[in-house]
Amino acid sequence: MRAAAVVSVSFASLWLLGAAPAPTAVAVDDASPIYGVTIPHGYRQWEMIAPSQEAGNLDELRVILGNSLAASAYRANVRPFPDGTILVKLAWKRVASSVFEGAFVPATATTVQVMVKDSARYSASGGWGFGRFIGGKAVDAAQHQHCFACHAARVRASDFVFTKLVQ
Ligand code: HEC
Repeated sequence: MRAAAVVSVSFASLWLLGAAPAPTAVAVDDASPIYGVTIPHGYRQWEMIAPSQEAGNLDELRVILGNSLAASAYRANVRPFPDGTILVKLAWKRVASSVFEGAFVPATATTVQVMVKDSARYSASGGWGFGRFIGGKAVDAAQHQHCFACHAARVRASDFVFTKLVQ
């Protein structure tokens, strides 16, 4: 159990660091405050649900991935999402391509954000546990206090999830 968790976080850390060897300072097994959500194992192999952009962060490229339960629920239009669904939002700094003028590419990874569906454990937050990670390390409790409030204010009707499947 412990070994599996260590492998998963190291894997995520490698990605966050742009495939450079993981330094020893990177947190292992780090869980988000309030929810206890960790970066899920193998998420880089998951299916892309959609990309996204935000006006305040146009220098960022983002993509939302889902595990197999998420992907099936999206395809069959099942809401609420089943327990075990996990959604991961990845973001990178957007930089000009060094090999093609006018093209932009992802550079340094900025954040990994995670939503885990467990309707019993997270009954107080619509069945979702939230985690936001920078450099493999969960951000503070203050930031986690706002996750559910914003999702609940805007997308309660779609099981608190903004992202729609794009084909
Ligand atoms: C002020 C509003 C707001 C807050 C606060 C917020 N989110 Fe979101 N979240 C969004 C929006 C809008 C999207 C849609 C995609 C995008 O904008 O990149 C989103 C998308 C997501 C997704 C992809 C699934 C989906 O709902 O589309 C995850 C995972 C996620 N957020 C996690 C978090 C976590 C973890 C926190 C707290 C640390 C958080 N969010 C706080 C607005 C918010």
